[in-house]
Amino acid sequence: MSRLDSFIRRVSAQRDILNYVTGEISDVDGPVLELGLGNGRTYDHLRENLPLREIFVFDRSINANPQSVADGDYMILGEIRDTLAFCGPRVKAEAALIHCDLGSGDPTTDLATCAWISPLIIERTAQGGIVASGLALDLPNFEELSLPEGIQKKRYFLYRKL
Ligand SMILES: C[S@@+](CC[C@H](N)C(=O)[O-])C[C@H]1O[C@@H](n2cnc3c(N)ncnc32)[C@H](O)[C@@H]1O
Repeated sequence: MSRLDSFIRRVSAQRDILNYVTGEISDVDGPVLELGLGNGRTYDHLRENLPLREIFVFDRSINANPQSVADGDYMILGEIRDTLAFCGPRVKAEAALIHCDLGSGDPTTDLATCAWISPLIIERTAQGGIVASGLALDLPNFEELSLPEGIQKKRYFLYRKL
């Protein structure tokens, strides 16, 4: 498969998954955490889907379309390893949804990311909350959910905190 085909499948899977999880968190209180602003596409989609939720966005720097950057207190800049660990005073409540889009394409880097980010995600997710991730995570007290129909296995991972 060409990289273009792979990109198209990845972003269309992201859109379908974000649409799916929007419905799954309707009974769970708490903000949304977007880990990895990047171009801001998925952030923009989340804020369109969830206009009444607080959405906190994390990245080490801003390289997004200017229309897709979170305002003031909702844009948390720095290494996620530090900012997610210490975001409590700003974010306050545990998250109803965490979308983690930090895949690097390098299997060693991705395994290292999984090792440090999984405990931080466990700590920041509300009971019943959903984690949607491009990387497989190690979340022992979560159930792994099936992906919406049509999305290839292991393209994305969905978890719910028990
Ligand atoms: C794949 S992009 C996210 C794409 C985004 N979801 C979109 O739709 O445009 C990943 C982003 O995560 C950020 N990132 C990756 N690892 C990070 C880390 N350890 N700390 C902070 N930011 C990180 C990168 O700077 C990059 O902007």
